[in-house]
Amino acid sequence: MNESLGCKLSKYVTASLANEFRRLLHFIIGALEIVKVHSFEKQHNIKTDGATFVEDTFSLYKDGVMYQPTPYHVLAKIIGYLKPGPEDIFVDFGSGKGRVVFFTALRELKKVIGVEMDKSLVNIANNNLANFKSGKTAIEFINEEAVNFKIKDETIFFMFNPFGSKTLEKVLGNIKRSLLDNPRQIRLAYYAPAHRYLLDNEDWLVLEKNITNLQCSVWRNKI
Ligand SMILES: C[S@@+](CC[C@H](N)C(=O)[O-])C[C@H]1O[C@@H](n2cnc3c(N)ncnc32)[C@H](O)[C@@H]1O
Repeated sequence: MNESLGCKLSKYVTASLANEFRRLLHFIIGALEIVKVHSFEKQHNIKTDGATFVEDTFSLYKDGVMYQPTPYHVLAKIIGYLKPGPEDIFVDFGSGKGRVVFFTALRELKKVIGVEMDKSLVNIANNNLANFKSGKTAIEFINEEAVNFKIKDETIFFMFNPFGSKTLEKVLGNIKRSLLDNPRQIRLAYYAPAHRYLLDNEDWLVLEKNITNLQCSVWRNKI
């Protein structure tokens, strides 16, 4: 009886300590992220922080998700995995204030494009662009509904859960069609993949990687 009470007590203490440890870890990761945001954005003279509510009066299917930037520590791991190079044209669907675009353009690519439906966010991104002197790569922000963005020769598509399944279906259809016109290897990185089943169900796509510890998966086309 006593033994089982002792056992229960020790399990309780272990679980409580594990919980406290998790909370501490989250706190430390949060604090490090704040430091990273400040130092990166100060160094590059941009401001992409701050979740911003976007009233979705712009998108075709009214399923847009509000602006929230990808945390820098997540972005560093995703771009570190993708390793975009001089032959790549990178698109961030729902680019907001431009964080993903600027971070990616620090590498040498052919071009980095941000597609964003909200004009006021595109204005902020373009103001950032006027201040950003560090990139090795051409940058363009396009004020456009993602479904209407004409896909031609882009090779890497990034999405931080920007929209719902209706828009995503159309965007995937556009990418697929572009491959018929211009066969090439493409990759699609989806962070916080709320509608990943759509990509999993596409027979022209194959899962390349679930990036460990991040809610990010990468698919590529079968060629
Ligand atoms: C979660 S935020 C991601 C911001 C940025 N990609 C990042 O990771 O830092 C989603 C963005 O997608 C934009 N968006 C939502 N639906 C869209 C659509 N149909 N076409 C273009 N942009 C859209 C929103 O305005 C918002 O800025």
